[in-house]
Amino acid sequence: MTEIEVLPDAAVLIDGERITWVGPRREAGGLHSAFRIPRSALDVVEVTGVLLPGFVDCHTHAVFGAPRLDDHQRRALGMDYRAIAAAGGGILESVRDLRARPEAELIELTRGRIRTLLSHGSTTIEVKSGYGLTLETELKQLRVVRELAASEPVSLTATLLGAHEVPPEFRHRRAEYVRLLCDEMIPAVAQAGLAGACDVFCEPGVFSVTEARAILTAAQRCGLGVKLHADELQGSGGAELAAELRALSADHLTGISDAGIRALAASPTVAVLLPVTMIFLGSGRQAPARQLLEAGAALALASDFNPGSSPAVGLPLVMALAVSQLGLRHAEALNAVTVNGAAALGMAADRGQIAPGFRADLVLCDVSDWREVAYWVGGNPVTAVWTGGSACRLLPGPVSLGRHVPT
Ligand code: NIG
Ligand code: FE
Repeated sequence: MTEIEVLPDAAVLIDGERITWVGPRREAGGLHSAFRIPRSALDVVEVTGVLLPGFVDCHTHAVFGAPRLDDHQRRALGMDYRAIAAAGGGILESVRDLRARPEAELIELTRGRIRTLLSHGSTTIEVKSGYGLTLETELKQLRVVRELAASEPVSLTATLLGAHEVPPEFRHRRAEYVRLLCDEMIPAVAQAGLAGACDVFCEPGVFSVTEARAILTAAQRCGLGVKLHADELQGSGGAELAAELRALSADHLTGISDAGIRALAASPTVAVLLPVTMIFLGSGRQAPARQLLEAGAALALASDFNPGSSPAVGLPLVMALAVSQLGLRHAEALNAVTVNGAAALGMAADRGQIAPGFRADLVLCDVSDWREVAYWVGGNPVTAVWTGGSACRLLPGPVSLGRHVPT
């Protein structure tokens, strides 16, 4: 993860949606003859700055209604996660909101947010459901993702997170909710082709390792990839379960045990770290990134963009925090949001690199040194984005996060 190749004064040749050549600009002049491209068919775009692979944000909860401002204030005043939930906040507040909000409104709110993530360089974004917790409202969230994937110039991959929390109507019947997930929700979502993966919030007090294993093996039987919110606040064997199931990723990992680190390092599962979340929650802790790297685990970074624990819109901030809070080198941070972010979505052969055959998702940063992308804390160095070879129109000026009306 410390290896990256920097080409000063480079050129990239794109044909349709794919990169076909990359190399020194002085060699680019002869490309039209080498590739038999008529000069008139070449569209030349001159840029200055640093051109990077499009960033892959492999963990977001981008479909939601209102931001949770009361939670933010309660936390500042010292209330913890459980006390906030008991006061009517937490995930279930977003669930009440999303259930009541019309699909068309969710589409427009999410559109603004996705455009904002794109304008910060995220060209591939994983989006989880998990604020509906009924078959119909989980499908509603996943349809929002499908609609935006079809209408916005960004790659969106959807993950079913029906096991984000036990819904209030099942509070005293949790085994029934797990059965509903396994027998109805997962098969229905897989059949409709509305998600490529299934995730579980595996945490003491939310879903146990035993419940998570049942849900994720049901998902595998339906042909879905699996991911886990594992050991986010407290270690409970979530990372070990992810390795056992050969999950695409195990995410969060603040409370991962030494055995969990060894299990992930020996597995193909990517460890996804979300440094903004721990900072936004004011926890003062972070996942043991260096131990994971030294053990040989593959590490990715993501925003965890969500209304409760991480309203973070851009991966440049995540990279800067990964260097200062997790002890990553700049190269490790960049690989974590490109090559390894793609691996956490099972897409490493297709995107995350500027190399022949890869999808032409590119990000231009107006900086002189590539390391600056992981340096300017809270700034947005991104000035242009191409997805599938086409230039994107980025949001002008300040970001748009959607004006929401209360439900
Ligand atoms: O990744 N851990 C569970 N889910 C989110 C929080 C979502 C929320 O608070 O709305 C997370 O941090
Ligand atoms: Fe999350």
